[in-house]
Amino acid sequence: MPHSFNRRKFIKASALTGASLAIADSIKAFAPAKKDKVRIGMIGVGLRSHEHMGNFLQREDVEITAIADPQQRSIDEALVVFKQYKRPEPAIYKNGNEDYKNLLKRDDVDAVVICSPWEWHSIQAIDAMNAGKIVGAEVCGAVKLQECWDVVNTSEKTKIPLMMMENVCYRRDVMAVMNMVRKGMFGELIHGQGGYEHDLRGVLFNDGVTAYNSGVEFGKNAYSEAQWRTEHNKNRNGELYPTHGLGPVAVMMDINRGNRMTKLSSIASKAKGLHKYIVEHPKGGENHPNANVVFKCGDIVNTQIQCANGETILLTHDVSSPRPYNLGFRVQGTEGLWQDFGSGGKKQGHIYFQKEMNHSHRWDDTEKWLTEHDHPLWKKYGTQAEGAGHGGMDFFVDHAFIECVKRGTEFPLDVYDYASWYAITPLSEKSIIEGGQVQNIPDFTRGKWKTRKQIFALDDDY
Ligand SMILES: NC(=O)c1ccc[n+]([C@@H]2O[C@H](COP(=O)([O-])OP(=O)(O)OC[C@H]3O[C@@H](n4cnc5c(N)ncnc54)[C@H](O)[C@@H]3O)[C@@H](O)[C@H]2O)c1
Repeated sequence: MPHSFNRRKFIKASALTGASLAIADSIKAFAPAKKDKVRIGMIGVGLRSHEHMGNFLQREDVEITAIADPQQRSIDEALVVFKQYKRPEPAIYKNGNEDYKNLLKRDDVDAVVICSPWEWHSIQAIDAMNAGKIVGAEVCGAVKLQECWDVVNTSEKTKIPLMMMENVCYRRDVMAVMNMVRKGMFGELIHGQGGYEHDLRGVLFNDGVTAYNSGVEFGKNAYSEAQWRTEHNKNRNGELYPTHGLGPVAVMMDINRGNRMTKLSSIASKAKGLHKYIVEHPKGGENHPNANVVFKCGDIVNTQIQCANGETILLTHDVSSPRPYNLGFRVQGTEGLWQDFGSGGKKQGHIYFQKEMNHSHRWDDTEKWLTEHDHPLWKKYGTQAEGAGHGGMDFFVDHAFIECVKRGTEFPLDVYDYASWYAITPLSEKSIIEGGQVQNIPDFTRGKWKTRKQIFALDDDY
């Protein structure tokens, strides 16, 4: 159903309904108090954190007062970013995996941004909320389903909000398509697709010095993500990285705000790509010790999801084979569809609207449509965002986080999105173990999805 595309109109209209009381309650319960300046603690300051820190340190309304990371190299590299933006050095917590807990004791930290390895996200989010710190959490999937409930329960108990920092929801073409969805141009949505289709072989292995394409080591002999991420591909078979593909589709389908995901089923292909990479790499070979490692995660994992309002979603995890980057979005309704074949450029996809194209049954180029329906946020901030990471979308996710904390308003992607999106991973693993058996996706909102209203990017504000 098309949305009224205006935050003020929406608030005015909803004020008249009974549902508004529930919304007002939830805003009150999960919104921080207003602030002029946001003081941030960074937990995990590896490569991803640099993009957030760059965005934060450019803003006069943000200070990064403390950082926590057990690796000296990561600390040293983070401090270079502070120098680059001529900002004072933060307090440093580097004494092991638990030292972030001392960062959480500081009075000059309002919010933390978690950019640590996946297995730490929920643990650190829970500790942060219990310490009264607002949380921004990087993307990934949960290790255990229970941790998703634990994060929701902690947020509800402490009344501390959490933002799911899914930057792809802010990709320019994705937001233009969302804009068209909200204008009703696709009719009623029927199906969505997305995925993580990214050749990560040169990320999952390196030489311990250079992050990308430099060797076949992983674990303690490696650097950055190859230190920890590869272990997940080794030990787990499932949709390991659901949120980049799911987030944008979930927002367009109003998941947790009028709709919800009810069940899923996953199947996995055989796992060949990572072993082949090690064996064929000039620094690897059949005699390299890593050639004996058995990687569990199928090269392609497909997960199909059913939604309460009748839509289907297909997610594909594809990180171990040679391929160009493509998150593979497809948004399909009763009146038209969009398919994305690139990495977010305006020209990289196809689109079809049956009425406007006189039932031609032919794809149209996307450029004209994506330009005409550019989202108001991108129109307003596009130039400013250009230098930020991932084609500018990182600017918007950080902007939304800071603006919500400053204004004391609800996060557009919140703890229920975190829980339901993260939950896809353990549920997909269970489904694969059970031969593709359907798994129920819990309702982490406990029924509130029926009355919660969409608030993501309703205008050009944040
Ligand atoms: N949204 C995006 O586009 C995007 C892009 C890249 C990575 N990521 C995500 O960001 C997160 C971090 O990825 P990365 O590429 O920076 O990895 P990284 O390995 O470069 O950085 C992770 C850092 O966390 C530190 N760490 C480990 N245990 C810790 C602990 N207990 N407490 C504090 N710090 C700890 C490590 O020492 C390391 O410096 C992951 O969740 C990843 O999936 C998101």
